[in-house]
Amino acid sequence: MSIDVIVVGLGFGADFAPIYQAHPDVGRVAVVDADPVRTTAVADRLGITDRFPSLDEALAAPGWDAVHLLTPVRFHAEQVQQVLKSGRHCASAVPMATTLEDLDALIAAQDDAQRNYMMMETAVYSREFFHARSLLDSGKLGRLAYFKGDHLQNLDGFPDYWLGYPPMHYVTHALSPALALANTRVESVRCLGSSKLTPDHIGVAGAGFGTEAALFKLAGDDLVANVTMSFFQLGRSYLEGFSVYGDEGALEWPQLEGGPMKEFKLEQLPDGRRGRPVTEADVRPPGAPELLPEALKRFADGGHGGSHPHLVHEFVSSIVENRKPRVDARTAATWTAPGICAHQSALQGGAEIQVPDYGAR
Ligand SMILES: NC(=O)c1ccc[n+]([C@@H]2O[C@H](COP(=O)([O-])OP(=O)(O)OC[C@H]3O[C@@H](n4cnc5c(N)ncnc54)[C@H](O)[C@@H]3O)[C@@H](O)[C@H]2O)c1
Repeated sequence: MSIDVIVVGLGFGADFAPIYQAHPDVGRVAVVDADPVRTTAVADRLGITDRFPSLDEALAAPGWDAVHLLTPVRFHAEQVQQVLKSGRHCASAVPMATTLEDLDALIAAQDDAQRNYMMMETAVYSREFFHARSLLDSGKLGRLAYFKGDHLQNLDGFPDYWLGYPPMHYVTHALSPALALANTRVESVRCLGSSKLTPDHIGVAGAGFGTEAALFKLAGDDLVANVTMSFFQLGRSYLEGFSVYGDEGALEWPQLEGGPMKEFKLEQLPDGRRGRPVTEADVRPPGAPELLPEALKRFADGGHGGSHPHLVHEFVSSIVENRKPRVDARTAATWTAPGICAHQSALQGGAEIQVPDYGAR
C-alpha cells in the first residue's frame, strides 16, 4: 500500500516535503502555502507538480490520504479538525493547541474520524533522546531521579504572530523527553513568570513574561521535571534540550548548542571518602538510522537531532500498518496541557494547577 500526502506550510514544511517524496510507502506529494511565491519556489525546486493555493482547495480535491500541517500555531486546532473531518489522516507541527478546550476537541475529532492524528514532536525522535532511552533501558542511569529541560530562544524579528507568545505554550520540546522516558504524565505544576513583557513585546495573548520557570510534578512517582522556557528579554544564546538524571548516572545537554553531551556515572564509595566519585565522558550520540528505510537514511543528519525522517516514517507507517502513531491525540494532549497549565500558574503568581489526565503515557 502507498499513500498520497499533502504538506501544508512551506517554511518548516519545505524540510519535510522531500522526506515524504523519498519514503517508499508514499506515492504522490502535494504542497500548499498561502503565499503563492513560496509555493512555486519550493515546488519547482522539489519537482512537485501537485500544488494548491489553500487547505480548503486541497481537501476538496479527490484522493490524498494524509495531510501534514506546518502552518502557524494559531491555525493548528482548526485545521487539524478540518483535515480529520475530510476523512484524511493528519500530522501537525507542535504545539497541538494552546487551550485545554482545543486539546479536548482534537481528541474528539480523532476519535470521531477514526483517522490517525500525530503531533510531530521532534524532541522524542532526536539522536539525544535515542541515547537517553538506551542508557535508561540498559540500566546505566539506574532509577530515574530528576529531569531538567530548557528552551531558550530569542523570538525578536520572528513573524508578528509570535509576539508575546507565552513561552510555556511551547513546552513540549523541553518536557516530552521526561514524560516519554518516565512513561508518565504531569499531575500538577507550579510556575513563576520572570521578566514581565515590555509593552513592545506584548502580543495577542496580552500581558505575560519573557521567561517562565516551572516545576512539573510527575504522576505516580516521586519525580520532578524542572523546565525553563524563554522567548523574550533574555541575553542568552539558543538552547533547546533536556537532561535526565538517575541514581546511578546522568545524561546532560551541552551548555552551548552543538557541543557534546555529558554522560556521568556514579562510582562506588571508596573507604574513608566523602561523596561517591563520578566519572564524566563527552558523548555525541549516533542516532538510530537503522530504524529508517534505506531511502530516508540520508536525512538522518538533519536538524532537530535528525528527527525529521523518523517522524515522517512513524506517521506514514502508522497509516500503512493501520495502527495508532506513537504521539496520537491523547499522548499529544498529555505532553501539551502541562505547558498551558504552567502559563495559567505563572499568571496566578505560582499557584499549583492540576493537569488533566488524558489517559495516555
Ligand atoms: N522543532 C519543531 O518541532 C519546530 C521547529 C520549527 C517550527 N515548528 C512549527 O512549525 C510550524 C511552522 O513554523 P515556521 O517557522 O515554518 O512558520 P512560518 O510562519 O515561517 O511559515 C509558515 C508558512 O505557512 C504559510 N501559511 C500561513 N497560513 C497558512 C494557511 N492558513 N494555509 C496555508 N499556508 C499558510 C505561510 O505562508 C508560511 O509559508 C509552526 O507551528 C511551528 O510551531 C516546529
